Amino acid sequence: MPSVCSLCANLVFETMHAHRCLVLSAVIITCYLMTGLYNCVACQKKKSCHVQDGRADCSHLSLSAVPPNLPSNLTSLDLSHNRLLGIPPESLTPYPGLLHLDVGFNSITKLDGGLCQTLPLLQTLNIEHNEVHFLKKEDVSHCTNLTRLNMARNRLKLQGEPFSALQSLKFLDVSANNLQSAKLSSQPVLPSLVNLNLAFNNFTTLKKDDFSFLNHSSFLQTLNLSSVSLKTLEPGCFKPISGLHTLIMDESKMGTLIIAKLCLELSGTAIDTLSLREMKLVTLTNKTFSGLQKTSLTYLDLSHNGMGKIEPGSFQWLPRLQTLILSYNNIKHVTKETFQGLNSLKKLKLTKALVKSHTSSTPIIDDFSFQPLSALESLILQSTAVQKLTEHTFTGLTSLKELDMSWSSYTSLRNISNKTLVSLAGSPLTKLNLTGTAITNINPGAFSVFSNLTTLVLDHNFIKQNLTGKEFEGLSQVQEIHMSYNRMINLSSTSFVNVPSLKVLTLGKSLAAKALNPELSPFSRLSNLTILDLSNNNIGNIRENMLEGVVNLKVLKLQHNNLARLWKSANLGGPVLFLKWVRNLKTLLMDSNGLDEIPADALRGLSDLRELSLGSNLLNSLKDSIFDDLNSLQLLFLQKNLITTVRPEVFKTPMSNLSLLLMGKNPFDCTCESILWFVTWLNNTNMTNVPGLRDEYTCNTPLAYFNRSIMDFDTLSCKDMTPFRALYILSSSTVIMLMVTALLVRFHGWRIQFYWNILINRTLGLSDAGVEEGREFEYDAYVIHAEKDASWVERRIVPLENDNCRFCLDDRDSIPGMSQLESIVDNMRKSRKILFVVTETLLRDPWCRRFKAYHALHQVIEASRDSVVLVFLQDVHDYKLSRSLFLRRGMLRPCCILDWPVHKERVPAFHQKLLIALGMTNRLQE
Ligand SMILES: *[C@@H]1O[C@H](CO)[C@@H](O)[C@H](O)[C@H]1NC(C)=O
Ligand SMILES: *[C@@H]1O[C@H](CO)[C@@H](O)[C@H](O)[C@H]1NC(C)=O
Ligand SMILES: *[C@@H]1O[C@H](CO)[C@@H](O)[C@H](O)[C@H]1NC(C)=O
Ligand SMILES: *[C@@H]1O[C@H](CO)[C@@H](O)[C@H](O)[C@H]1NC(C)=O
Ligand SMILES: *[C@@H]1O[C@H](CO)[C@@H](O)[C@H](O)[C@H]1NC(C)=O
Ligand SMILES: *[C@@H]1O[C@H](CO)[C@@H](O)[C@H](O)[C@H]1NC(C)=O
Ligand SMILES: *[C@@H]1O[C@H](CO)[C@@H](O)[C@H](O)[C@H]1NC(C)=O
Repeated sequence: MPSVCSLCANLVFETMHAHRCLVLSAVIITCYLMTGLYNCVACQKKKSCHVQDGRADCSHLSLSAVPPNLPSNLTSLDLSHNRLLGIPPESLTPYPGLLHLDVGFNSITKLDGGLCQTLPLLQTLNIEHNEVHFLKKEDVSHCTNLTRLNMARNRLKLQGEPFSALQSLKFLDVSANNLQSAKLSSQPVLPSLVNLNLAFNNFTTLKKDDFSFLNHSSFLQTLNLSSVSLKTLEPGCFKPISGLHTLIMDESKMGTLIIAKLCLELSGTAIDTLSLREMKLVTLTNKTFSGLQKTSLTYLDLSHNGMGKIEPGSFQWLPRLQTLILSYNNIKHVTKETFQGLNSLKKLKLTKALVKSHTSSTPIIDDFSFQPLSALESLILQSTAVQKLTEHTFTGLTSLKELDMSWSSYTSLRNISNKTLVSLAGSPLTKLNLTGTAITNINPGAFSVFSNLTTLVLDHNFIKQNLTGKEFEGLSQVQEIHMSYNRMINLSSTSFVNVPSLKVLTLGKSLAAKALNPELSPFSRLSNLTILDLSNNNIGNIRENMLEGVVNLKVLKLQHNNLARLWKSANLGGPVLFLKWVRNLKTLLMDSNGLDEIPADALRGLSDLRELSLGSNLLNSLKDSIFDDLNSLQLLFLQKNLITTVRPEVFKTPMSNLSLLLMGKNPFDCTCESILWFVTWLNNTNMTNVPGLRDEYTCNTPLAYFNRSIMDFDTLSCKDMTPFRALYILSSSTVIMLMVTALLVRFHGWRIQFYWNILINRTLGLSDAGVEEGREFEYDAYVIHAEKDASWVERRIVPLENDNCRFCLDDRDSIPGMSQLESIVDNMRKSRKILFVVTETLLRDPWCRRFKAYHALHQVIEASRDSVVLVFLQDVHDYKLSRSLFLRRGMLRPCCILDWPVHKERVPAFHQKLLIALGMTNRLQE
């Protein structure tokens, strides 16, 4: 396309320079058409031939020519169902390595002689359903390597000896060609032929020398003459092909007499298999097969013949016959003589072979009818309505291993007793199929004659009874009992005592509601049981010990029951963990049970489990690690539940070896917490097949993802989330902390420093008390008080002074000649402690408030001393205290906060406390 387009562009460019509008538009149109055409061919090629492993499938493409651009190393090319009118050899020159060419269903009228020259390796050529008419020697003269040639459904007219060159041909199909004769050549050809198909042709006569062209075809095995209505068979017509093994004459509607003739002609051939289906062979006489007496026929198919009558002795000529198929006939009566002579017969198929007659409402099988068949191993009596099974119906079948009476109605089977099948007592039967035979009841000992039976199939009946165990008496070898689809079977603890070797037991859709209630489990002695099917029974209750002793169970089918309650944590007595006995389980099916919970230990220890099916339940959030022991799981089915979240805590182990996962149609919650792990797992798993991933796995929540595929979930949004959020929190808190710090420092810097100092002093134990520093201070305490409280100080504080204790009072001790301010500062410095006499007045006193307090604290902070003592004469609120003096009670040691007592008798105690607060305790107490 690029080349075409650039060419167009160049043309356009040049013509524009030429200013010739008309030409320009013409060129544009031409270019458009050219690119269009190119596109069309290109797109057809692109979406058409499917090439893989050297094979190209170009069928159904309306091609009218061989595509030229396929890989040159093709070995197989399918051009069937196209519109080819011929296959010119030159069109195949790009593919010289072709081994197989299929040009069936085209309109080819002629085969070109050059074809096999172009394709020297060609082995298979299929030209079926074309219009090839004349076929000459030259047309295929180079096809010496050809082994298969299919020319069915053409309108061949052979000219000369067209097949003479086909030395390697093994399969030749010239069926449905309107050939007027079976004679394909006048001289011996096709030395390698194995299979010749002449079916659906028009000849009605087989002449003596018709097959003489196969004189040298010593490998010939199969001849198909289906739908060839032969009327005349010249004696010796099969002589040239006496090595023939298989002759197929189906649908050739020859009638009894011609068939007898045919058999006569086959006498002395190597015929082994004869198929005579749909031949209108209504009656078999005791002569029909007499010609086969000298053959070693082993397989005879007589089905779909509308055969109503088999004369006694009809099969007496076939002592070597091993398989006889009589299905789909109208046989009314089978007698003792019917099968006479079939001494070697191993398999007899009578599916829908018997019908009712005028005289009897049901076909009749006489007693001892099967007695001649002493070698018979398999008897198929499917879909046959026989009235009565007598005690001699099957007598004499001394080799019978398999009896299939399925989908038949035998009146005597309704209520099977120990007499019903007694005629099989002498048969070493291993398999008995009684599916769909309208059984309603099994009496004790009904199967007691089958001591060698391994498989008993009783599906699709109407059995409605309590199984006491006696029903299976004598079945000591039985390994499989199939009883699905019955009416209402009740179990007891002895139901299976007589079948201890049981390996397979199916009871699907058969059990009565309380069938599994017996205290002692019906299955408890079945130690070899491997498959147990209890599905579709609406079972609502099973006992925990149901599977006790069933140690070899591998497959347990419990789907379509009602077991939800058993696994609820709210269940009375706790969840019923009935799987704890079957640790070797490989398959567990529990779909459609209404389950909304799986107990933590329900699946504990099932380390061999390969298939777990829990679809169509109500499971929502699954507990962590419930699946943790399932490390062999390969198939997991959880579709159609209410699962929103797929977390690694639950699913990591079971999904680690999975080959198939079905989890669609759940209301997934497409958030990082719920689905991120699952989506990542799905994206990365190449081991697990997850069908329907695009369509069935959709988000239910959140709204932004509603109804979209979970694979659309943006996993990147989650990956960025965690560090981003952390960063956000970190940075914002840093900013806030900085702001707070700045504000604190701005407004309360001194206080922080104050607290800090106190903290340091306290932790390092640098209390001022008890340290011999006292003497460097002139005063023990500087007393700050309001004017108004001076008299209180006079009365209560000053008297405490003595040699060891001196207070500094502003009025008394101010230093003469100094300004008041300087004096205060100086005195404070000389005092070890600062004592505030706190009253409302003090807080209001601007002098105290502003200057003294401020300075006092400044001093305290500077000296790093924990040296403030508060004496409250009134109760002052902490808030006011901090507003005025920048102090809080909490900032000080409790012992430095004193209240002037109301009661006189407590005054000495107050004094004592005061001295302690001033750090003079020790001395005073000594
Ligand atoms: C055919 O050739 C192509 C390259 O042209 C190669 O990739 C392919 O493997 C070959 N196929 C066979 C079957 O040899
Ligand atoms: C037949 O095939 C072989 C290879 O299998 C080849 O050597 C021989 O040339 C072919 N014969 C003809 C006539 O092309
Ligand atoms: C065939 O049946 C006829 C009677 O229907 C009998 O006379 C004849 O002997 C039988 N032939 C053979 C070979 O059994
Ligand atoms: C068959 O069952 C009946 C009782 O139902 C019993 O009397 C009889 O002996 C049984 N026959 C055999 C052959 O077991
Ligand atoms: C069961 O089979 C054994 C051999 O496998 C054979 O000896 C025995 O006779 C058979 N039993 C019956 C009842 O045919
Ligand atoms: C169970 O199977 C084993 C091995 O196949 C066999 O030896 C044993 O006899 C069987 N048990 C019963 C009760 O049939
Ligand atoms: C899936 O995997 C591919 C590479 O394996 C990656 O490019 C893509 O982003 C992944 N998609 C999601 C949804 O994880």
